Amino acid sequence: MLEVRNVTVDFVGLRAVDHVSFAAEKGQIVGLIGPNGAGKTTLFNVVSGLIRPTSGSVVFEGQDLSRLGPADRNRKGIGRTFQVVKPFGGLTVLDNVVVGALTRGQGLVEARQTARATLQRLRLDRFADTIAHSLPLALRKRLEVARALATGPKLMLLDEMMGGLNPTEVNETLSLIQELNAEGLTFLVIEHNMSAIMRIAEKVLVLNQGAVLVEGPPAVVTRDEQVISVYLGEPIESA
Ligand SMILES: Nc1ncnc2c1ncn2[C@@H]1O[C@H](COP(=O)(O)OP(=O)(O)OP(=O)(O)O)[C@@H](O)[C@H]1O
Ligand SMILES: [Mg+2]
Repeated sequence: MLEVRNVTVDFVGLRAVDHVSFAAEKGQIVGLIGPNGAGKTTLFNVVSGLIRPTSGSVVFEGQDLSRLGPADRNRKGIGRTFQVVKPFGGLTVLDNVVVGALTRGQGLVEARQTARATLQRLRLDRFADTIAHSLPLALRKRLEVARALATGPKLMLLDEMMGGLNPTEVNETLSLIQELNAEGLTFLVIEHNMSAIMRIAEKVLVLNQGAVLVEGPPAVVTRDEQVISVYLGEPIESA
């Protein structure tokens, strides 16, 4: 479904992403982990079209996306959330999701229906009329997912959804991801919460200083000597 081919991103004086290649198959949940500044979010920005790579390409469902901006990529089926959540704070939860539905070209009536259905799917329906900025963090993050989901993606990029959530909220988020995945949505998930990523990811990619350090099933990656030394510090027990 998604192929990232030899992508490099140079900022002034800094190589943020260094010849990264990987693929995600339809239906997979792929984890992206690594230390702060490893280039994870930058890689998401390349896939979603917010920044152009210095070299390399992104192919989605067989099509090279190089010439497409973020809106076109979203229309092709790539949805994303942001590490720093930024809902339209003054709008209601429902209207935030309506905005997502409108970007896929729906009229207002249909967009409202899509938004209501999306809120229900994410168990946010009872907050429909709440002003977004008054939601607690966990629900604001979930609203981000709802907004992205309402655009009708086939591939969803989640950037640190678990950060700042308590264990119950993490469990809820994991269940939601698994439900959406069971319905056919493919995920690329950036996460620092290792036990969470191990529970859902089929494959994990470890980035370090912009480059892929290791790629493999979570159980293998978390026992990898290099991964332990640059990132984990100690082995993680499987759940
Ligand atoms: N727009 C930019 N201009 C210049 N440097 C940038 C820009 N965006 C990111 N960087 C730098 O690129 C490197 C990779 O950053 P990135 O945000 O991709 O890391 P990350 O793996 O997402 O880290 P974290 O886990 O802290 O979110 C960092 O050194 C960062 O400071
Ligand atoms: Mg990041």
